[in-house]
Amino acid sequence: MTRQAYVNGRFLPIGRAEVAIEDRGYQFADGVYEVIKAVDGVPRDLERHLARLERSLAALRIPPPMSARALALVIGEALARNPIRKAIVYLQVTRGVAPRNHLFPHDARPSLVITVRRAPFPSDRERAEGVAVISLPDQRWGRCDIKSISLLANLLAKQQAAEAGCREAWLVDGEGRVTEGSASNAYIVDSEGRLVTHPSGPRILGGITRSVVLELAREAGIEVVERPFTLEEAKAAREAFLTSTTSLILPVTRIDERAVANGVPGSTTRHLARLYAERSGIPEAAAGL
Ligand code: PDD
Repeated sequence: MTRQAYVNGRFLPIGRAEVAIEDRGYQFADGVYEVIKAVDGVPRDLERHLARLERSLAALRIPPPMSARALALVIGEALARNPIRKAIVYLQVTRGVAPRNHLFPHDARPSLVITVRRAPFPSDRERAEGVAVISLPDQRWGRCDIKSISLLANLLAKQQAAEAGCREAWLVDGEGRVTEGSASNAYIVDSEGRLVTHPSGPRILGGITRSVVLELAREAGIEVVERPFTLEEAKAAREAFLTSTTSLILPVTRIDERAVANGVPGSTTRHLARLYAERSGIPEAAAGL
């Protein structure tokens, strides 16, 4: 099957899909994106993703390329043309094509690109054993709530984590507090069984998985505390885990070479993964746990 990409109004085989070299996304990373998972052609949590896209665009003063309704239709069409059971939709909007100039162009139309591919969910083994993370300084800018395609600090951190044999980097601010991962949100369970995660705001991306997991936790009677936690707290925590659209809920069992508690996924993490699997219709989310 040849994957089909959507580029500014047209579907093309992915190898022939192109954007202009003066696209501001290419020259300035002047754009935003979303990553949405879909099961059997149906996107999950689409309204939340489209609402976040709208917020990201508004923050950068990029006009929406089309209405949310029209966007939902195009996403549906992209999924129909790429029949993959468990898929990831990548959607990117940039400010458009214009001769290079830092100032916003007056007449550029936003560029919209959509691709679909198989969801790279973690392996059963990663879920069953949990993953290792490395802590690194958070070198990003002050608006991490915008899902910007400008991801250099995230890439450098993720690469460094991989080279250290770790799945993810947990980013630590100037006060020693974990903000989030390079491409995921970060959580601990404290000695009282409370779920602790950095509050939403400009220091983190408000993850869609995060919003769902916090709802599920509250519904299950788990106390949720949205406050920053330090790296030291994380290392002494009863449990730790991370979430993202592609990682689902992934137990963290090592932080900087040190085992979290007894080094196996904790009961609250496993409970939440089961609830998430049920709610999302993705049994993989709890497989191996
Ligand atoms: N990453 N924080 C950061 C910095 C992220 O890049 C992501 C997602 C998240 C989790 O958000 P969500 O639950 O909405 O996926 C948190 C995506 C998957 C990516 O860049 O591929």
